[in-house]
Amino acid sequence: MPGENAHRARVFLSRRIPEDGLRLIVDGCDATVWPDELPPPRDALLAAVAGCDGILTLLTDLVDDELLDAAGPQLRVVSNYAVGFDNVDVPACTRRGIPVGNTPGVLTDTTADLAFALLMAAARRLPEGDRYVRAGNWRTWGPMLLLGPDVHGATLGIVGFGRIGQALARRASGFGMTVLYHDVKELPDDVSAPLGATFVELDELFKRSDFVSLHVNLTPETSHMINAESLRRMKPSAVLVNTSRGPVVDQPALYEALRDGVIAAAALDVTDPEPIPADDPLLGLDNCLIVPHIASASRATRGKMAEMAAANLLAGVRGERLPTPVNPEVYERPAPGR
Ligand code: DGY
Repeated sequence: MPGENAHRARVFLSRRIPEDGLRLIVDGCDATVWPDELPPPRDALLAAVAGCDGILTLLTDLVDDELLDAAGPQLRVVSNYAVGFDNVDVPACTRRGIPVGNTPGVLTDTTADLAFALLMAAARRLPEGDRYVRAGNWRTWGPMLLLGPDVHGATLGIVGFGRIGQALARRASGFGMTVLYHDVKELPDDVSAPLGATFVELDELFKRSDFVSLHVNLTPETSHMINAESLRRMKPSAVLVNTSRGPVVDQPALYEALRDGVIAAAALDVTDPEPIPADDPLLGLDNCLIVPHIASASRATRGKMAEMAAANLLAGVRGERLPTPVNPEVYERPAPGR
């Protein structure tokens, strides 16, 4: 009977996800949901996945050979509740014939919204202004009070011009910004021209941009791509925005650049590590705005991510092709021993 396997499938969810997806999983499987706000400690995670047919992970869970071994040879799917999957050793899953799912597309606009909000907030010094008012320092209107650069008409450099980078370009066009982008390869004109975006080499992007926004995946090539040297190539007035992954930025180098006026400001949705330790020197800088990895955190988007993660998990435990696999090559050859 169709669906019967799914009824017997054992799955583990490393956190409670929104009802939209949770209900589908709980209805279709024998599901165990980690109940805490914090992720399962490693030992608990390894124990919880033992014997599971499917696991739903978050970017806070490391999925590697150790975890796959702990799960056992019956594991049929890893569904990651995120578009990013740098927490998953995808080649290790592929070697074992295990498809990995992610949640692309549904969080594009919500993430681009936050990137633009960070850009605006850092430029116009909103957190500083809010702290100033709450501290009781607002005594009069001041001609020089909390001045910042204009956003409209400025040049935005987008590093990584995939779905989210392109969505940011659409927002920038409403502000009359000049948009430069860099990616591993130049996009066809019919994609970049309607966005008003011009391909440039990274060096030129750093040199010309008033705002630099990062939208790359975390890979060995992009790790620390923003470092002391690249920061020195930016304008002293530049604002750096990061909604990609923390390790794309060499954080101690960023701290020094912000402290010494090498660049003007940064706005980070992601840090390295996460959460950022309370004694990290970045937290002492007024020109650094940090929010806790909330770029996709709208109610609607988190619900859609839950539905997609559930669809991947359920397809996987049923032995069907995942709707959004990150390693489709897994379907090109039979899984070992199956
Ligand atoms: C992702 O999906 O990769 C984000 O970082 C969290 O939504």
